[in-house]
Amino acid sequence: MSAKDYISARTKVLCVMGYPIEHSMSPTMHNAAIRALNLNYVYLAFSILPDNLKSAIDGIKAFDIKGINITIPFKQTIIKYLDEVDPVAQEIGAVNTIKNNEGFLSSRNTDAEGAMKALVDAGYKVSGKNILLLGAGGAGRAIAFIVAKESNKIVLSDMDEKRAEKLANEIKRKYGTSIEGKNNSHHVLKEESKKADILINATPIGMYPNINKSPIPSEFLHKDLFVFDIIYNPLKTKLLKDATEKGCTTLSGLNMLVNQGALAFEWWTNKKPNIDLMKNKIIEVLGMVK
Ligand SMILES: NC(=O)c1ccc[n+]([C@@H]2O[C@H](COP(=O)([O-])OP(=O)(O)OC[C@H]3O[C@@H](n4cnc5c(N)ncnc54)[C@H](OP(=O)(O)O)[C@@H]3O)[C@@H](O)[C@H]2O)c1
Repeated sequence: MSAKDYISARTKVLCVMGYPIEHSMSPTMHNAAIRALNLNYVYLAFSILPDNLKSAIDGIKAFDIKGINITIPFKQTIIKYLDEVDPVAQEIGAVNTIKNNEGFLSSRNTDAEGAMKALVDAGYKVSGKNILLLGAGGAGRAIAFIVAKESNKIVLSDMDEKRAEKLANEIKRKYGTSIEGKNNSHHVLKEESKKADILINATPIGMYPNINKSPIPSEFLHKDLFVFDIIYNPLKTKLLKDATEKGCTTLSGLNMLVNQGALAFEWWTNKKPNIDLMKNKIIEVLGMVK
């Protein structure tokens, strides 16, 4: 009997940890890739209450979970429990992938690389562009650091103006990028969207189940904007629907999700997963045709 047919006493465990976690498509895409390669792994999702994060880390070690994805809201708070954080993740200040080597926890951030590859594959060049980035949390930080190396100007807008300003200052110090941190008032969104070439949503606004919400009023969108919503559930968020109506070119979070997942998968298993299979499985499960 082959490994893909059954779970045995030798099956190695991979997982994603977050709160909430029910929206996650990571088990769907990783298990599809595992089965296609006939590997003896299984990928699960764990809902971890924020107060239980430290116990969850002890659990990873006790149960010898081999690879872990970290999602909302732990990407920054988990760092203090890890043994090694790679230089990119250290710079970003957020991790999304952990590898457990006999209790030694190494970590990386594959969100930044995954997002940039999604933009490049969509034919979008960030170089010299004005970027309006909504959300300065875990994913927003990853994206801000990677686009900062090439963009002309970045405006970061967050619920918490101080958080956006702090991130803008870190990036300015590191790369000398022209970057400002602002709040998410209508005034800011209206004025900054006029000057932007690309709008990136790295907030959870519009994510399942709150699918009728958008982080920006539709009247602020204009046809010259490229709109990248990193949310992948639903594939077509309200923001992307509004943007399509305005004639904008759009990109969903699906490719970023699959890219960051494929990088993690390869790091854990030393095998290249089938990216198209992972993507198609998600589309199938979300019940939507792109
Ligand atoms: N496609 C992918 O591969 C991928 C990868 C990573 C994340 N994501 C998605 O990206 C979203 C964000 O994830 P995350 O881990 O970065 O979450 P996070 O760490 O909680 O960060 C979200 C940030 O957005 C802020 N925010 C909330 N509402 C806002 C608004 N209306 N305007 C401006 N800022 C607002 C939050 O502020 P408060 O904390 O004060 O509310 C927080 O700073 C989630 O939907 C997640 O599923 C997708």
